[in-house]
Amino acid sequence: MESDDFCLKYHLAREAVRFSFVFVQGGSASDLSMMSPKKVFYFDNNATTRVAPEVVTAMMPFLSELWANPSSAYSFGAQVHGHVEKARETVAALINADPKEVTFTSCGTESNNSAIHSALVTSGKRHVVTTAVEHSANMNFGAYLEKRGFEVTYLPVESDGSLDLHLLERSIRPDTAVVSVMMANNETGVLFPIEEIAALCRSKGVLCHTDAVQVPGKLKMDVRQLGVDFLSLSAHKLHAPKGIGMLYVKRRTKFQPYVIGGHQERGRRGGTESVANIVAFGRAAELAMASIDDENTRIRGLRDRFENHVLTRIPNTVRNGNRNLRLPNTSNIAFDFIEAEAVLLLLDQAGICASSGSACTTGSLDPSHVLMAMGLPPMRARGSVRFSFGIYNTEEDVDHLIEKLTPIVHRLREISPLSPEHPDNDTYDIEAARRKHEVEMSVQGEG
Ligand SMILES: Cc1ncc(COP(=O)(O)O)c(C=O)c1O
Repeated sequence: MESDDFCLKYHLAREAVRFSFVFVQGGSASDLSMMSPKKVFYFDNNATTRVAPEVVTAMMPFLSELWANPSSAYSFGAQVHGHVEKARETVAALINADPKEVTFTSCGTESNNSAIHSALVTSGKRHVVTTAVEHSANMNFGAYLEKRGFEVTYLPVESDGSLDLHLLERSIRPDTAVVSVMMANNETGVLFPIEEIAALCRSKGVLCHTDAVQVPGKLKMDVRQLGVDFLSLSAHKLHAPKGIGMLYVKRRTKFQPYVIGGHQERGRRGGTESVANIVAFGRAAELAMASIDDENTRIRGLRDRFENHVLTRIPNTVRNGNRNLRLPNTSNIAFDFIEAEAVLLLLDQAGICASSGSACTTGSLDPSHVLMAMGLPPMRARGSVRFSFGIYNTEEDVDHLIEKLTPIVHRLREISPLSPEHPDNDTYDIEAARRKHEVEMSVQGEG
């Protein structure tokens, strides 16, 4: 198959780049981590974010002198415990919650799993409503539940990534335990109307969870206004380290722990607290609250500068997702007639990090489930790249991205048999080639 060939070539090219890098540096692959990093132009802030230097400073004492267990009764422990509680207050303030409603977890995935698990156990019901565009933290938990006899409804989305609330309302049944809908999509940035969804859930007596992992630092959040019962966050999207998350559980909501052990987190999550990470989360929340208004406007400006250029200067490019109802930092662009993985490989060679929703595994390229759920043709989904901007990006960085990206797209189109820019494009039936490619892609997508 053509795309298998492509994937093989992609892997070979990647290995060649890796090998030449190692060769030039005169070391082994394992030495890569020891080298001083070259400048990275990072446009993948929805994947993770750089830990802010202020956050590193805040957490250091808890990796050195303040190492006590916060549950220990002596004053050394109590001192550390005080810092955990201070961080809890700050993280609570980020979403206008009461600190008692904040449970620290290990990550966004654990928070999502815990919320859905708790809703099922405490209600005794067996049906979950979610969407077809959730993060794998929900999609794969849904698949796990289905294997164990639970029922999961995955709501479809419109072509702009939005959700039909009438459909959502109709999908709620007497045996529905929880509706779990993400607040912002990690691939397209598209926002779902969580306040309306939570109101709908309340009117039906069903619990409401939202995966808000992509939202903090990008938009303000207020759980009182949202009216949800559960909300998940992850600190590594907010310039804090990986390995720390948070689950908001609304006061008086019944809760059954998912990680069962000690009495930590008021009995809601066993396991000795990751103190340095919790303190880091608190500091990151503090920084985000102080800068969100200015940064939002600035980052939206960078994103729009990039997008306007790409959509107007590079032909056959399309924005994926609703233009207005989305995160200010996210731009998901389809480059027709070429493969996103090839774009990413060449960007990588130029020191630029971006991503696609697709994973290149075992020789076949899977198109993003989010873009496929939006009804994109497989070819367009496979040519889509996500650029997610962040607080450390500058206008110069964005101009560098534009400068490198434009010739890369042209170069790839010149060698793509599907592209009108291919030099031989009038010597064969390009429409027939495209149709053939679409059929091949959709057959693979079903597999
Ligand atoms: C929307 C969304 N939910 C959940 C997660 C999982 O978060 P974590 O990596 O902290 O488990 C992510 C991470 O990419 C995400 O983007």
